Amino acid sequence: MRIFVDSADVEEIKKLHELGFISGATTNPSLVAKSGREPREIYRELAEMLDHVSAEVVAEDAEGMYREGKELASIHPNIVVKVPFTPEGLKAVGKLKADGVRVNVTLIFSAAQALIAARAGADFVSPFIGRIDDIGYSGVEIVRETAKIFMLYDLPTEIIAASIRHPAHFIEAARAGAHIGTVPPAVIWKLLKHPLTDIGLEKFLSDWRKAQENRAG
Ligand code: G3P
Repeated sequence: MRIFVDSADVEEIKKLHELGFISGATTNPSLVAKSGREPREIYRELAEMLDHVSAEVVAEDAEGMYREGKELASIHPNIVVKVPFTPEGLKAVGKLKADGVRVNVTLIFSAAQALIAARAGADFVSPFIGRIDDIGYSGVEIVRETAKIFMLYDLPTEIIAASIRHPAHFIEAARAGAHIGTVPPAVIWKLLKHPLTDIGLEKFLSDWRKAQENRAG
């Protein structure tokens, strides 16, 4: 599973990118609104750093989504246009694909939606694990079913497990066959921490220092 950051906070994403394991970022209108910045600037800065930057349209009709998607894609070749799973969104997928624009279909809450989006030509589908859990179903199971169906029918569409809320979601998404997990920065920082790593490092360093002191007499 490749690892993306689910955020529009460029400074925070830069810090994580320096660690060497992040290959993309996903944004959505709520995350961009929270940043208070000009969306195009955010997308450009992120696309100069990462191979995949999902930028979401806010138009609600296929023609508007297509126009907005083309505009977003013109910012940088690393921009992937995110469209919602609606009948209008599905129409926009075909139009954008015909122009060579990569598309991520978002707001996926069932394997059936994922299969339909894939057949409509989506390069990526984004099932929202946490929000599925919120309504009493298992988000990870939707990812597992989708991965199985895509494999059975040899579909090239990649699954981006989104709405990852905690470290267990991350590893469960990887085990379920998500190609990509998009993770909020706060969850990534939690994943980087392990008490046994801290305790082990402290012991290595204190043993090293003691040996140095003994040698020095
Ligand atoms: O990017 C969409 C998704 O990750 C949202 O997550 O926590 O608001 O359900 P959440």
